Amino acid sequence: MELYRRGCVLSLLGLLILASAADAYPSGGYYSKSCPNAVTIIKKKVTEIVRENKNIAGGLLRLHFHDCFVRGCDASVLLNSPNSDAEKDALPNAGVLRGFDEIDRIKAAVEAECAGVVSCADILALAARDATVLVGAKSWEVNLGRKDGLISKDTEANAKLPNPLGTFDELVQNFGAVGLSQEEMVVLSGGHTIGRSSCRSVEPRLYNFSGVAGSTDPSIDPKFAAELKKKCPKNQQGSILSMDPTKNTFDLLYFKAVLANKGLFESDANLLTSAVGKQLVRKYSKPGSSFLDDFAAGMRKMSNIGWGSEGEVRKVCSAVNH
Ligand code: HEM
Ligand SMILES: *[C@@H]1O[C@H](CO)[C@@H](O)[C@H](O)[C@H]1NC(C)=O
Repeated sequence: MELYRRGCVLSLLGLLILASAADAYPSGGYYSKSCPNAVTIIKKKVTEIVRENKNIAGGLLRLHFHDCFVRGCDASVLLNSPNSDAEKDALPNAGVLRGFDEIDRIKAAVEAECAGVVSCADILALAARDATVLVGAKSWEVNLGRKDGLISKDTEANAKLPNPLGTFDELVQNFGAVGLSQEEMVVLSGGHTIGRSSCRSVEPRLYNFSGVAGSTDPSIDPKFAAELKKKCPKNQQGSILSMDPTKNTFDLLYFKAVLANKGLFESDANLLTSAVGKQLVRKYSKPGSSFLDDFAAGMRKMSNIGWGSEGEVRKVCSAVNH
């Protein structure tokens, strides 16, 4: 664990150390004695859930990402607050984050098999992996044994989660704060190949670019901008957009779209404002690139953020034990 933390700080030592340190974590066999069927039950439930609605894979992937960026992957994003000041109430999450009911369903199935053993954080990490793989991603190893955190604050989520209006440098900073590199930021943005977005996240670009009322981001392909405005008329923030042309398939079309100036968010478009970013977007937009492998490696690293933090195994994912 100490090795891992230092690996994060000394990005110079980079991948080798991180890879070998990650292997020192409790493995996927963490529950092999205490709940031997847990991993299988989770996969079975996720398969059932994704069969009902493929698009929910995007919801589960984003839920895991937003969990990991705030206090590490400790299921803090799942906690309810009576005062509406938990992570789920923060600006990037409120009203749009999806997958809570699905996680509760999976947790119930796991609890029926062995009560109080499997953490919500592990369930979320496995569910995000299994769902994303079911729609076409390559698999990644999920180390198990996370504990569920006791604290969840909207202010922390607002500060740590990347902004859809963010510049390349701001995005690099957000990812750097949790030990992820700029290359990993670019490849993990490829998560935008699945799922959906509310118009709320796109409207500032369409109607108030750079804070100028009535102005549209000139970097958007004009035909695409017109399409977006049709789908997202002013002040209909609840309408829904596809993340890319194939919203239920994990493929390279997100990168193709970004390269053609048809990315949804400024953060997507801004990948092209950096030489490194543009080169990677171009590479990942071509068939046969290392996109699926690099994405899986990035996800494995993301899923290990904050390893070793203290906590409990929650009985119910939306509340701490009492
Ligand atoms: C680079 C910085 C990022 C920014 C600024 C960003 C921002 C956003 C925004 C604004 C939405 C739409 C929310 C809505 O209004 O419904 C969204 C959706 C989504 N994001 Fe990101 N994101 C980033 C990185 C990532 C990463 C690293 C992943 C996963 C590896 C990811 C996965 C997703 C998915 C799957 C959706 C669709 C959610 C759904 O279907 O409910 N994003 N993102
Ligand atoms: C446009 O952006 C500015 C600056 O971010 C903000 O103060 C203003 O409220 C926005 N206007 C609308 C209509 O959203």
